[in-house]
Amino acid sequence: MKQKSVYLCSDCGYESPKWFGKCPSCGAWNTMSEFKIQPESAARGTNSFPRGASRPVPLSEIESGDEARFHSGIGELDRVLGGGAVHGSFVLVGGEPGIGKSTLLLQMCQEMCRNAKVLYVSGEESLRQIKLRAARLQISSPELYILSETDMEQIIQETEQMEPDILIVDSIQTVYKRDLTAAPGGTTQIKECAMSLMQYAKNKNVTIFIVGHVNKEGTLAGPKILEHMVDCVLYFEGETTGPFRCLRAAKNRYGSTNEIGVFEMSDHGLLEVNNPSAAMLAGHPQGASGNCIACVMEGSRPLLAEVQALAAKTQFGVPRRTAAGVDYNRMVLLLAILEKRCGFFLSSSDVYVNVVGGMRLDEPAVDLPMVLAIASSFRDKPLPEGVMGFGEIGLTGELRAVSGAAQRINEAYRLGFHTCIMPMQDIDETLTKKMNIVRVRTAADAIRAVL
Ligand SMILES: Nc1ncnc2c1ncn2[C@@H]1O[C@H](COP(=O)(O)OP(=O)(O)OP(=O)(O)O)[C@@H](O)[C@H]1O
Ligand SMILES: [Mg+2]
Repeated sequence: MKQKSVYLCSDCGYESPKWFGKCPSCGAWNTMSEFKIQPESAARGTNSFPRGASRPVPLSEIESGDEARFHSGIGELDRVLGGGAVHGSFVLVGGEPGIGKSTLLLQMCQEMCRNAKVLYVSGEESLRQIKLRAARLQISSPELYILSETDMEQIIQETEQMEPDILIVDSIQTVYKRDLTAAPGGTTQIKECAMSLMQYAKNKNVTIFIVGHVNKEGTLAGPKILEHMVDCVLYFEGETTGPFRCLRAAKNRYGSTNEIGVFEMSDHGLLEVNNPSAAMLAGHPQGASGNCIACVMEGSRPLLAEVQALAAKTQFGVPRRTAAGVDYNRMVLLLAILEKRCGFFLSSSDVYVNVVGGMRLDEPAVDLPMVLAIASSFRDKPLPEGVMGFGEIGLTGELRAVSGAAQRINEAYRLGFHTCIMPMQDIDETLTKKMNIVRVRTAADAIRAVL
């Protein structure tokens, strides 16, 4: 049979029978390259299930069985997965180099091996390296099998022979299929390898975890289709220089995407942080200007974090602004509000904002603490001790209500705060007995109340 060829865009994975200078899907230039398809796979198409295996079935006749889950023994990971990894699910774990993806997955094996057969395939590390890491993490399960391999056919063959319940592939960028001419890590290889794994997972009801690298922009490297294909996409993030790591679900077909898991990296691997607020506030400077404690909701949990700001006189023409842990554009917008609505002339000040502990706070409720921290630094006047706040700030400088106020106040009370600056919104009156609640209408009022 004649070999067919297709043209694939290396940026977005768009497939076409003819060549284009500009990809019709993503608009990138010179990204289409030719790939030969083996006659057999050409007949099946690149992404089909075996022919004749499926037929329409009434929904009522489909047996779902129980939604059984594997528990990892790591509470923070299980919560992000929605209560454990569902049997037969396909999970993608992405993150920056050295953040701890391999560590997390290897640590997870320890518990999972107790009631499942686990195969850990590494295309990045040798058996010896994995053994050394396992020794450091004190993992000694005889039921854990390791394979150091990058050839996809070989991996599937070994997996078919061993029939594990859980298969871990670290990472999808290092494995390759021999019949494709593209280099490993390219869009086509990633797509085809993930497709083979997915077919295997769905046919044999095997739970698969794959590690994915991220690109310079911080999104998962490879085609977007990879994220569509899998059931869960988890991002492992944090500053590699700091000890805290945060696991988030960007997509989850079996649970909420709001939950986060907080870990601390140590020599013995990742430790769960059960009380993240206390950990984030450790070392909080007393009586220093330019900081304010924020309370954000991370899924169902409130989390206290310290927002720091430094406003210093600009030395050269254009003032510098940097944001770490908060959205840069949001910070710039709040600076404009401070200038226009609160009378702070920041146009000749450099402003730096940072969230201590490497956490990323993207919730609008962090607006008020950010503004208070900047104002405090600008006036070089510390906020009174035991004060925290939350609230979204609108363009007219008004403070807007946020959800979960009671949970935030309770968390702040638990950690010893006595005053809460918040928007004009109804709260349970019993909370006012616990804490001094200061409800204000505008950002300017909030600043007047504490500075
Ligand atoms: N004693 C130690 N030896 C090696 N790494 C350690 C040690 N203690 C802590 N670590 C941490 O473990 C991290 C490496 O974790 P891991 O290899 O799991 O990351 P990864 O996300 O899989 O990285 P990669 O993308 O390179 O595969 C290091 O960056 C370091 O922060
Ligand atoms: Mg790794």
